[in-house]
Amino acid sequence: MGPLSAPPCTQLITWKGLLLTASLLNFWNLPTTAQVTIEALPPKVSEGKDVLLLVHNLPQNLAGYIWYKGQMTYLYHYITSYVVDSQRIIYGPAYSGRETVYSNASLLIQNVTWEDAGSYTLHIIKRGDGTGGVTGHFTFTLYLETPKPSISSSNLNPREAMEAVMLTCDPATPAASYLWWMNGQSLPKTHRLQLSKTNRTLFIFGVTKYIAGPYECEIRNPVSASRSDPVTLNLLHGLDAPTISSSYTYYHTGEFPNLSCLTDSHPLAEHSWLIDGKFQQSAQVCFIPQITKTYRGV
Ligand SMILES: *[C@@H]1O[C@H](CO)[C@@H](O)[C@H](O)[C@H]1NC(C)=O
Ligand SMILES: *[C@@H]1O[C@H](CO)[C@@H](O)[C@H](O)[C@H]1NC(C)=O
Ligand SMILES: *[C@@H]1O[C@H](CO)[C@@H](O)[C@H](O)[C@H]1NC(C)=O
Ligand SMILES: *[C@@H]1O[C@H](CO)[C@@H](O)[C@H](O)[C@H]1NC(C)=O
Repeated sequence: MGPLSAPPCTQLITWKGLLLTASLLNFWNLPTTAQVTIEALPPKVSEGKDVLLLVHNLPQNLAGYIWYKGQMTYLYHYITSYVVDSQRIIYGPAYSGRETVYSNASLLIQNVTWEDAGSYTLHIIKRGDGTGGVTGHFTFTLYLETPKPSISSSNLNPREAMEAVMLTCDPATPAASYLWWMNGQSLPKTHRLQLSKTNRTLFIFGVTKYIAGPYECEIRNPVSASRSDPVTLNLLHGLDAPTISSSYTYYHTGEFPNLSCLTDSHPLAEHSWLIDGKFQQSAQVCFIPQITKTYRGV
């Protein structure tokens, strides 16, 4: 950028001093005509890709820039910095090996991970007049493209109204919010449905057929949103006493009466037919052998 205008040793001392006092310095508002802005390129980046944090309207006559992870300019969060006069790049404790700072203050992050999501602070240092110069802090939040979520359930086959079910929207995604839908609508207001603090988990206290689903969850951040596939809970009804039905009330000799067992259970229960206490077969319909005039059976 600018020409070398100060002897390197003076610059280094000033620089060191600035770094030590960085966290004590006040925010500095640049004139509105020269508002520094930071933009991510591309605006939607997915895991494993590269992103450039482009700095626009950088003021003239700067001594250097420091990038921090987060909103605090603590040494612990110091990623990397660029010293204009010596064109030196310095790495800090938060440097992951994937960040490159350019002479124009832009920061390239390669092979982005979810841990890279969140806020960044750019600290720019104006050339000093002996008192340490003026500094400015600019924060930027990096959002990653949200992954397609999936719903995991503590129990996909709850017994009606008896069991609590916990649905969780996976994966846990930093700097994102979670939304839930039932039947494509926002959740009905009922004491049976409660969300966790982060909204990532939905508790269903006693599933009735009205709230068995289908449920969908959505992960949303300011740059993207994605919805899960729907999940419907299979309500297990209790076993009511089965009933036997027959197509006809009277049969003629030589006919083959069939008896059906009707139950209200879901999924289908197992069936066992007994004639006069003797096991016959295990299908839903009982086929009775050709009957004779004297045939009888319980
Ligand atoms: C800063 O430098 C990088 C790398 O050379 C370049 O891609 C980017 O466009 C520059 N930023 C601006 C605002 O010119
Ligand atoms: C990106 O990161 C992943 C996991 O950290 C690693 O396995 C992979 O080799 C990296 N890819 C590149 C191109 O650096
Ligand atoms: C959780 O969702 C409710 C609406 O259902 C919303 O008002 C609230 O802000 C959300 N909380 C969080 C932490 O996103
Ligand atoms: C009972 O089922 C058998 C086999 O499916 C069929 O041949 C017969 O006609 C049925 N009997 C009656 C009374 O429906």
